[in-house]
Amino acid sequence: MRNRSHDSPTRELSDRVALVTGAGVRVGRAIAEELGRAGATVAVHYARSEGGARATARAINDAGGRARTFAADLRDPAAAGALIGEVTAWSKRLDILVCSAAEFDRRPFEQIDGPAWRDMLALNLEAPFRLAQAAAPALRRRRGTIVNILDVAAFHAWKGYAHYAAAKAGLAMVTRVLALELAPRVRVCAVAPGTVAFPPGYPAADRRRVLSRIPLGRVGRPADVAGAVRFLCGAPYITGSVLSVDGGRMAGSGGVL
Ligand SMILES: NC(=O)c1ccc[n+]([C@@H]2O[C@H](COP(=O)([O-])OP(=O)(O)OC[C@H]3O[C@@H](n4cnc5c(N)ncnc54)[C@H](OP(=O)(O)O)[C@@H]3O)[C@@H](O)[C@H]2O)c1
Repeated sequence: MRNRSHDSPTRELSDRVALVTGAGVRVGRAIAEELGRAGATVAVHYARSEGGARATARAINDAGGRARTFAADLRDPAAAGALIGEVTAWSKRLDILVCSAAEFDRRPFEQIDGPAWRDMLALNLEAPFRLAQAAAPALRRRRGTIVNILDVAAFHAWKGYAHYAAAKAGLAMVTRVLALELAPRVRVCAVAPGTVAFPPGYPAADRRRVLSRIPLGRVGRPADVAGAVRFLCGAPYITGSVLSVDGGRMAGSGGVL
């Protein structure tokens, strides 16, 4: 591992190993690359986006960092322990766990059947919980940090997202409970993004409606979330906190989506 004293102040995570879930695309990818720029060794998790994950790892390695890809379907409750085992076997330790992998699905309440409900909660709520459980011993040893990626939907009610919002609200509470249970050795925080990347094919009328709810008058970028994660990873007196990165949306009513 690199010696911290030889690093520039902008590589403040140079003695840290981070696992970022869902790091083959969009927000997770931006987080992984940002932590790589901060000097962290990065385990780049993916489920289906193998090419994207390889590109993320390549970008980090080409910039002089260290990264490797790891595949796991995190809907499988056994996958969390296996993933943490593979990552720690590679890196010998773990300092930072960022849970970004999640499903986003709009569906009227009556159409959220058993599989839709279970899949949503398995990936968006149970997987971060199981990952934290599996990673806790390693994180304790290193005085590590967990950052869960939520959504303003954890706090604002939107029609058509009962399963998604319930999972994110659950993860917000898990974040706070774990901040208590894992203190003082492990900090547990969250970032609640507003819109930073529209889903592909998101209708133009819906985009306009979302924009009208954002006080700063524009959507954010995945890099905005990544910067907040980097900040929390280096913030030794912050735990149990949720940082909104939403252009001011949480300050208002949030509006009906
Ligand atoms: N985009 C936004 O504006 C926005 C707003 C608020 C909150 N967020 C939150 O930010 C995070 C990232 O959002 P995003 O828009 O970048 O996500 P996204 O484009 O919808 O991608 C979903 C991510 O979840 C992973 N994933 C899907 N199914 C999986 C499975 N079964 N097992 C493991 N991983 C699986 C995907 O990995 P593969 O591609 O490898 O399958 C992918 O990395 C999420 O937690 C989301 O809720 C995003």
